[in-house]
Amino acid sequence: MYWNTLAAAALLSQSVSAQNMLRFACSQLTVERADPLVSPGQSPAPHTHQIIGGNSFNLSMDPATYDPAAKSTCTSCTYSEDFSNYWTASLYFKSPENGTFQRVPQFANVGLQQDGGMTVYYMPYSAKNNKMTAFKKGFRMLAGDPMTKKNNRVSICHRCLGNGEGFAPCDSKDTGELPNKFCPGGIRATIIFPSCWDGVNIDSPDHKSHVAYSNSGGLGSQNCPSTHPVPIPQVMYEVMWQTQNYKNTAYYGTNKQPFVYSFGDGVGYGQHGDYLFGWKDDSLQKAMDALPSGKCANANCSVLKIQSGADSMKCKKAQQVVEDVGASGKWIKQLPGGVAVTY
Ligand SMILES: *[C@@H]1O[C@H](CO)[C@@H](O)[C@H](O)[C@H]1NC(C)=O
Ligand SMILES: *[C@@H]1O[C@H](CO)[C@@H](O)[C@H](O)[C@H]1NC(C)=O
Ligand SMILES: *[C@@H]1O[C@H](CO)[C@@H](O)[C@H](O)[C@H]1NC(C)=O
Repeated sequence: MYWNTLAAAALLSQSVSAQNMLRFACSQLTVERADPLVSPGQSPAPHTHQIIGGNSFNLSMDPATYDPAAKSTCTSCTYSEDFSNYWTASLYFKSPENGTFQRVPQFANVGLQQDGGMTVYYMPYSAKNNKMTAFKKGFRMLAGDPMTKKNNRVSICHRCLGNGEGFAPCDSKDTGELPNKFCPGGIRATIIFPSCWDGVNIDSPDHKSHVAYSNSGGLGSQNCPSTHPVPIPQVMYEVMWQTQNYKNTAYYGTNKQPFVYSFGDGVGYGQHGDYLFGWKDDSLQKAMDALPSGKCANANCSVLKIQSGADSMKCKKAQQVVEDVGASGKWIKQLPGGVAVTY
């Protein structure tokens, strides 16, 4: 949603120009049980992901040797120099009537042209003197935790769309859990990544400890901790789920709603996002440096190469882990991999 022009002014105490950020669409590249960050080389990975970005996405992407910008021949993102991969869990409707599953379709975000996928943001909330350090080759990180049973609304949240918009992502009107009422405009899942870096490591054993939040998990500030002093672009994903077909009011109520993530989470606290950097050369740094000038904003950054929505939608990759992960309108008997549903 275009919350940024409305809400960012209130959130940022920095100069007006620092409010510029990148906000752009990436269409679906593939949907499969693969996870080169958390379970590299494992085929199949434990649960289904929906993946966007460069088509060099692979089961294993060694940070030392695998350069997505060199190996990809296309990207599903608006910015054609962005061969990064971004992925999250898929969402399923579990029929309360008979327990079968349907993969929930997705829709394009406001003002963007895309086929499934996500909206990706690079935001300057932690920038100091308008400066951020773009990610280095091989950089990767994870936000959220599929195993958690705890509400972490400030960085992993859901918005019940169609009830009035225009407030900042993961603010107190959003919920950590999947909404327990029918959402007339669909459901938006948001994943906010950390905005501070240790300045040294491109990864860490838990894929998290080389980065840190400046604000207990939410949108960043200039107060990066001394352990992680380097301001980096704050990455955020928005996923738009078209849940309008599932409107039976009996499906919803206190602690009750019919959706479940591909890793079996029927509450939603465990939603998570993976990021694997793959911008060509120093293109991301150039874009971040240009944000304050006003020449670079949203999906219209003049220092970057832009491809048409049609071209980004053409970039697809066949499943490497070939199996039925469910398609729009089709029923499957179990979550891919036989993942059990927990609440
Ligand atoms: C992906 O990995 C497979 C081996 O698992 C390899 O054969 C293939 O070349 C890789 N793809 C790219 C684009 O490097
Ligand atoms: C299962 O229930 C859904 C409604 O929740 C229905 O649309 C579908 O046809 C049912 N499938 C079977 C096999 O009964
Ligand atoms: C991008 O910016 C240019 C120059 O300011 C403007 O003419 C164009 O309409 C903008 N495009 C979009 C999609 O906002």
